[in-house]
Amino acid sequence: MPDSEKTDSMTADVRSEVKRLRDALHHHNYRYHTLDDPEISDTQYDRLLQRLLELERAHPQLLTPDSPTVRVGAPPLEKFETAAHSVPMTSLDNAFSDGDILYFDQRVRKLLDTGKPVLYTAEVKIDGLAVEMVYEKGRLVQATTRGDGARGEVITDNIRTIRSVPLVLRATGSWPVPDLLDVRGEVFMDRAGFSSLNIHREKSGLPLFANPRNAAAGSLRQLDSRITATRPLKIFCYGVGRFQGPRPHTHGRLLDCLATFGFTVNPLTRAALSITAVLAFYRELAATRNALPYDIDGMVIKVDELADQERLGAKARSPRWAMAYKFPAAQETTRILDIEVQVGRTGALTPVAILEPVSVGGVTVSRATLHNEDDIAQKDIRLGDTVFVERAGDVIPRVVKAVTSHRTGAETVFRMPAACPVCGEPTVREIDAASGKRGAVTRCVNAACPAQVRENIRHFAAKGAFDIDGLGDKLISRLVDRQLIQNAADIFDLTKDTLADVDRMGEKSAENLAAAIEQSKRIPFSRFLFALGIRYVGEGVADLLARAFPDLNTLMAADKDRLLAVDGIGERIAESLVHYLSQPRNREMIHRLLDSGISIRYPETEGTGRLTGKTFVLTGTLSTMTRAQAKQHIGRLGGKVTGSLSTHTDFLVAGAAPGSKLAKARNLNIRILDEEAFQQLLSDAPGSS
Ligand code: IVH
Repeated sequence: MPDSEKTDSMTADVRSEVKRLRDALHHHNYRYHTLDDPEISDTQYDRLLQRLLELERAHPQLLTPDSPTVRVGAPPLEKFETAAHSVPMTSLDNAFSDGDILYFDQRVRKLLDTGKPVLYTAEVKIDGLAVEMVYEKGRLVQATTRGDGARGEVITDNIRTIRSVPLVLRATGSWPVPDLLDVRGEVFMDRAGFSSLNIHREKSGLPLFANPRNAAAGSLRQLDSRITATRPLKIFCYGVGRFQGPRPHTHGRLLDCLATFGFTVNPLTRAALSITAVLAFYRELAATRNALPYDIDGMVIKVDELADQERLGAKARSPRWAMAYKFPAAQETTRILDIEVQVGRTGALTPVAILEPVSVGGVTVSRATLHNEDDIAQKDIRLGDTVFVERAGDVIPRVVKAVTSHRTGAETVFRMPAACPVCGEPTVREIDAASGKRGAVTRCVNAACPAQVRENIRHFAAKGAFDIDGLGDKLISRLVDRQLIQNAADIFDLTKDTLADVDRMGEKSAENLAAAIEQSKRIPFSRFLFALGIRYVGEGVADLLARAFPDLNTLMAADKDRLLAVDGIGERIAESLVHYLSQPRNREMIHRLLDSGISIRYPETEGTGRLTGKTFVLTGTLSTMTRAQAKQHIGRLGGKVTGSLSTHTDFLVAGAAPGSKLAKARNLNIRILDEEAFQQLLSDAPGSS
């Protein structure tokens, strides 16, 4: 036999052994990590893995990204790339009482316009990090963090190291493996994994993680996935993005289906519950939460019928068909050592309690907000008091109440200062316009107050706004103190030399910062609007405005009625915008920003506004996306979806089993798009619409 043939037959043998080993390892991995029901010992598993590693080392051409050996991690990355989520990853609204949940149910029924009770799925709310995993033809091809909901960081190598994540979907026959599937879930560390990790770190003299959530976050966002591989990360999956293929009809069935593909779905999940049963399940969870091996911070309730979820759709940042019912926050007692007064972006004075450090739910708390003067007076909280402090999720810790029985008589009553603690100008208690009563907030109304200037600039340069890398809090304070910047527009007048002159800033950092400032000048419209720091204009509202107005000039010329016409903009926001834009100081700053070379990217010029001015109507069922997702896609490209056909309709998107709209559209001569043509339109290059 010639040598080459010998090699071929040897590789054929090796190939089949490699395949056998991989299949076996995938299977045993699933038995152990997903089902928690192993069929072989750890030593036997290791033997199979070692053999596979050996063969792959000898025949590197046989390596594939879905081999069980990738779980040991890949060579480190320089930085994380980012990728867009095909369907945005929204967050959840929070409920804090049974009443909130009953109100949610009432609203769902009203929106669905049904007399019948609605059924829900209830799940535990895991305290970890949301991720998305993309499977093409059953293989894991990409994983991302939630990021800002629209884009996340690509962490595929890291996710591959999590043993309970299937690298290849299991085809069991009970549900066909979809061609394309985005699976969403929460990555977390259980308490045992967290404490053994911290014990190990303590021994090695490494800083400890404050809680399991931080440990999970730190482990997942490692540029070196070989480190991630050593961390005891787990995942529970709870939802999907795209699902191309036959889909279940309820959320409960969807979770079953994910489990058949090999994902871990939390066993504390109850499907098809009445609203009363949901509330009973919440009490059950609240009573057992401490006995669970991992942290949960509440329950998530979701409308069970997927068709109903679609009809309900989403608001800017959260779906209308789901709600988080949070558990009461963790509380501890400690002493108020001092009360500091902070001045915020809008000049509002906030008293902050400086506390004797105390651990609340695993996090050390040494400062907590006291809201405002009335709140302090009403709760009778005094300097020197022993108090309850509470931490709810990521919210700033707050002082709940004083333990009056601990008083010694040395405690002192707190008064808001009559002069701003930063600029010394007199402070005012505003009169509430609506009620004519004294408002609760004390403000420094000096717009030139260094604290306000600093906070405004911080906001302007932060992530989600101009995102200027290197322009951190300390540097901003220094620049403001030296009066090198007095408003955001001044940032763009800073030169490398001015920056290098500022204390402790070397030539190289000055150069980098100048480059980052320059780079930030091209900015999407919504981020520009958010950066201005207009009261009540958060990221969600900025997004709505950017989609509703073709450009900044049109927005600046809009009156209150025009603003109120935008879906999602109410009285309070409209008034705040009109007020902001009527101030010559603000208009001048905006003009200076534009003069300094800032170029706002409008949806059109970005290639994402191709459907601006186009009106769509949807009918029938789409197989690759839900109706709500179709709406989101159209909206993101600038188009509008309406409920009924008219001569103003540009397109009818007709899915399977279309209704009477199809015939009507034909009569009206409206362009009809089948699913494929619709997808084509969504993904086309600019100009093709
Ligand atoms: S559903 C549109 N289900 O909680 C649905 N989220 O506060 C969005 N989370 O971003 C998520 N457990 O990171 C869902 N069973 C669960 C969850 C869950 C934890 C997290 C998730 C989400 C956040 C919202």
